[in-house]
Amino acid sequence: MLNFHLISIFPEFFPGPLSCGLMGKAVERGIVSYFLINPRDFALDKHRSVDDRPYGGGPGMVMSLDPLIRSVESIPDPGRILVLSPGGRLFDQSMARELSAEKNLTLVCGRYEGIDARFQQIVSAETVSIGDYVLNGGESGALCLMEAVSRLQTSFMGSAESPLEESFSSGLFDHPHYTRPADYQGAMVPEVLLSGNHQEISRWRRGQALLTTSAGRPDLLSKTLLTPEDASFLRQASRTKAGRNLYLGLMHYPVLDKRNQRTAVSLTNMDIHDIARVSCSYGLGGFFIITPLLDQQELARTLIRHWRQGAGQKANPDRVRAMELVEIASDLQESLTRIEDRCGKPPRLVATSARGQGSATCRDLWSILHEDPVFLLFGTGNGLAPEVIQGADEVLPPLRAGSPYNHLSVRAAAAVTVDRILGEGG
Ligand SMILES: C[S@@+](CC[C@H](N)C(=O)[O-])C[C@H]1O[C@@H](n2cnc3c(N)ncnc32)[C@H](O)[C@@H]1O
Repeated sequence: MLNFHLISIFPEFFPGPLSCGLMGKAVERGIVSYFLINPRDFALDKHRSVDDRPYGGGPGMVMSLDPLIRSVESIPDPGRILVLSPGGRLFDQSMARELSAEKNLTLVCGRYEGIDARFQQIVSAETVSIGDYVLNGGESGALCLMEAVSRLQTSFMGSAESPLEESFSSGLFDHPHYTRPADYQGAMVPEVLLSGNHQEISRWRRGQALLTTSAGRPDLLSKTLLTPEDASFLRQASRTKAGRNLYLGLMHYPVLDKRNQRTAVSLTNMDIHDIARVSCSYGLGGFFIITPLLDQQELARTLIRHWRQGAGQKANPDRVRAMELVEIASDLQESLTRIEDRCGKPPRLVATSARGQGSATCRDLWSILHEDPVFLLFGTGNGLAPEVIQGADEVLPPLRAGSPYNHLSVRAAAAVTVDRILGEGG
């Protein structure tokens, strides 16, 4: 039995939704109960006011402390006190699981510009947000939270099994579901589901859950324990892989030196190896070493030949695959043209820098990669020359921008950036 104590100036918000479907049945059967507390009933002035003007000025009103604190004090056992607030801990399935073990929960619904900030400390409340958007009040958020937590109560649903198979229970989205007819005006149910082969069906469902999660919320994959079979399935599903559309470029000219003068920098063997290995591990389309210096191009060719065909290949056959991704180009335009020839459209050029401000996030690039190739440029020396950055379609914000020290090697920066863009899903 779970008791919800709902503090809201609109108690009439709740009975309708809480009487529908399984939630209504759970209330009828006493699996969950809810109690409505209106702060207006605890206001002491003749207008029963619950709000006041904000200190420091500004628009809107703020919910006053006293009626809210009296509301909490009227609850014999409030349990954990949760204030609905857009700035709170993001509510998710793991928090729903955590809260489902409680006996009492008090949900405080804000209105206007929010609640006097001292409330939280005085009653030792936590803040919880139901998403990155702003609602008029906490009531609809409280309903979402109540529903997600209530359906995890034993015997809320007919079968105790069901919540275990749903989205997020394993860290992934649920697989798609189908029902009769198998053929609706030519829209067919996947054949495997009609096969009766339960092992095949469960393998297909796991695969679909992985694909939907990887396409929509790749960040979830990094928080999920994937089996070796899952990882190999994702790797093979290369049609949907954003990584194949991502190309890296390591520019040796024009870059800046320590005095911010334009210069050309020599190749570094370690950069070539490490960035090639990152490119291979994340399934990228290719990695361009860009230098106009002919002796440096020759050096790069010798190195690559050694690892692809020479003694290096015999000593370390794994390195061949990584080195196969490396290409040499004289300038930026040459690499852009080669990517365009391969992909059938010009790539979006994205510059990186340890200074300045970005124009796009890694998450933006993830979305772009599903449609268009992206050429992500890294500079050697003291970074890309300003004209390269200005000529790019987008610039990524510096890694560790707020930190007093953010001098990463270019190969470390490439690894971190690629992982931020693709994670486990790319
Ligand atoms: C209009 S909002 C206040 C917004 C606040 N001034 C801000 O910009 O963050 C009024 C109330 O709605 C509730 N609310 C709005 N959006 C929410 C969200 N995403 N999650 C949880 N509660 C929310 C909170 O209780 C909040 O105090």
